[in-house]
Amino acid sequence: TIAVIKDVLGGRYAEGSTVTVRGWVRTRRDSKAGISFINVHDGSCFDAVQAVVPSNLPNYSNEVTKLTTGCAVIITGTIAASAGQGQAFEIQATTVEVVGWVEDPDTYPMAPKRHSMEYLREFAHLRPRTNITGAVTRVRHCLAQAVHRFFHERGFYWISTPIITTSDAEGAGELFRVSTLDLMNLPLTDEGKVNFKEDFFGKEAFLTVSGQLNVETYACALSNVYTFGPTFRAENSNTSRHLAEFWMIEPEVAFADLEDVAKLAEDMLKYVFNAVLTERADDMAFFAERIDKEAITRLQHVIDNNFVHMDYTDAVEILKNCGKEFTYPVEWGTDLQSEHERYLAEEHVGAPVILKNYPRDIKAFYMRQNADGKTVAAMDVLAPGIGEIIGGSAREERLDLLDKRLEEMKLPKEEYSWYRDLRRYGTVPHAGFGLGFERLVAYVTGVQNIRDVIPFPRSPKNAEF
Ligand code: 4AD
Ligand code: MG
Repeated sequence: TIAVIKDVLGGRYAEGSTVTVRGWVRTRRDSKAGISFINVHDGSCFDAVQAVVPSNLPNYSNEVTKLTTGCAVIITGTIAASAGQGQAFEIQATTVEVVGWVEDPDTYPMAPKRHSMEYLREFAHLRPRTNITGAVTRVRHCLAQAVHRFFHERGFYWISTPIITTSDAEGAGELFRVSTLDLMNLPLTDEGKVNFKEDFFGKEAFLTVSGQLNVETYACALSNVYTFGPTFRAENSNTSRHLAEFWMIEPEVAFADLEDVAKLAEDMLKYVFNAVLTERADDMAFFAERIDKEAITRLQHVIDNNFVHMDYTDAVEILKNCGKEFTYPVEWGTDLQSEHERYLAEEHVGAPVILKNYPRDIKAFYMRQNADGKTVAAMDVLAPGIGEIIGGSAREERLDLLDKRLEEMKLPKEEYSWYRDLRRYGTVPHAGFGLGFERLVAYVTGVQNIRDVIPFPRSPKNAEF
């Protein structure tokens, strides 16, 4: 039987039964008694399994004792109770087949010792072999599955919104252009501008910054919907919480207001935290031990408590009076910086906090105006260690008010004509939010830099691999 290591260690096979495991060598140790202990991992769980290899195997001295970290092997043997600490089962090997050697062990960059995360990023093609990237990858998978399950159980439909688009969903101008034009020989208009009419789509096209505008059209038809896909931002922010390519989860709910989606965000976070604590206890134990000792208790605390809600206006007062020196001063009307968000979440509340009702002028054009004429029905969920992990709002469903905002912000009305149409044909109050998936994974694992929770990070001057 070909067995995955998770099942071997989980006790699925009785002692004495024969199994074959396939994977990569983590470590090899030879005892004086003429036995080798080889730890093999296959990614199915955090732990590697120990294979005990006797010296009477025909390839013992010419192959087994030459195995190094990273070699690919197929090992067959019998399941035995492990004498060693930590694991219940090991494999008494009867054959060891080497499938792939590590050509030059001295240059293999994934030696079984602690490397810095920066160092590992230089070897993105081999980084998946490390403990930490394996654990991040399984947690990431678990969270993604839990997100889909959460929405499915609540009757939400998953909408695949487009990656190529001609509209700027956030109106912030942080777009990557998609074009087939020849840069050395651009077609020009009479005014000397690039003539995008001759481009593939007949007009300027971009990678999406958010699926929200598209998914709103489905919310106004199927009521409860969400997107979950890649989004792209040409923000020139070289920080530990920004990526040029990241994944976003964006639910959108018809007939809902800000309070409804704030509750939805809270329920969703609790649901996925619960999933990761039960389904990935092995990886979470590693994060708690190695990366952040609060990794598990922090999530449990979120699950067990109600989210704190706070108005932007009150948050500004708290920040002004907290006695802390910030790099950027705060006044009503300024956008909060990461340092402010973190102060509120980490020091003032000590848990995620939902900030609501931001000044209209620092928020996107589509957010619903409040009766005070100054603020919009927006919310951000701020998390300790990270800052904003969710941004959302009620949407302006009143065409006259939406048009006024587009004009004030000098956004081209014609480019949003289909979005405006939704307000003309059966408009309805609706609301939604966007959860940055990598920020979620960083929060859950305690990993400091967002580049280390996505398989192939994209950031300014970096699109290797
Ligand atoms: O606050 P943002 O810009 O909101 C939107 O895009 C809305 N259209 C969402 C909606 O209401 N449907 O982005 C939402 C979240 C942020 O809270 C953050 O977690 C994440 O997306 N995010 C990023 N994550 C990684 N790298 C970046 N450059 C990010 N920009 C935003
Ligand atoms: Mg935001």
